[in-house]
Amino acid sequence: MKRVLGSTLISYEQIQRRIADLGREISRDYAGTSITFVAILKGSFIFVADLIRQISPEIPVEIDFMSVSSYGNETASSGTIVIEKDAEVVIDGRDVIIVEDIVDTGLTLTHVYRILTDRGARTLKTATLLEKPGNSRYERKLDYVGFQIPNQFVVGYGLDYAQHYRNLPDIRVLDEV
Ligand code: IMP
Ligand code: MG
Repeated sequence: MKRVLGSTLISYEQIQRRIADLGREISRDYAGTSITFVAILKGSFIFVADLIRQISPEIPVEIDFMSVSSYGNETASSGTIVIEKDAEVVIDGRDVIIVEDIVDTGLTLTHVYRILTDRGARTLKTATLLEKPGNSRYERKLDYVGFQIPNQFVVGYGLDYAQHYRNLPDIRVLDEV
């Protein structure tokens, strides 16, 4: 079985329009405060770069990155989480938004949410460009969602297959042939 690039699911223009909406919504919700974005590498690097540029200039914004992998047990409560790269920004007392590229099982987000809660975030919300509904075992509501997509494997705009395709401007389906 081989995987090849399939059709465009969400175009670059659609993504940009939606991110502008999300930026306005977040700017409204955080007016008068500040935001610490913690983006989960590598997939969210392009999304977060576009998202923070849609935040009102009145709002002080900090950004840092985390990279995590989970091993062993599949369940969010007992799986082992390894922090490959940690965020260095202060979390204690801050209003934090975790940024994901895509929420599938929600395990990554569940782990990062717990880590940042333990570090004393004053408020903690989540933003994801894509959500595959149905699969997620993340127990909270996602606060900011770009698009809900069908249960297909997608690449582009930061998302990879075996580290490739992150550079594509659009989000495209990866077909099996
Ligand atoms: P989760 O922990 O299952 O929610 O997985 C989230 C991570 O799996 C994302 O941050 C992506 O790196 C990866 N992932 C899940 N679905 C896809 C997909 O369709 N394309 C590319 N990466 C995906
Ligand atoms: Mg990935």
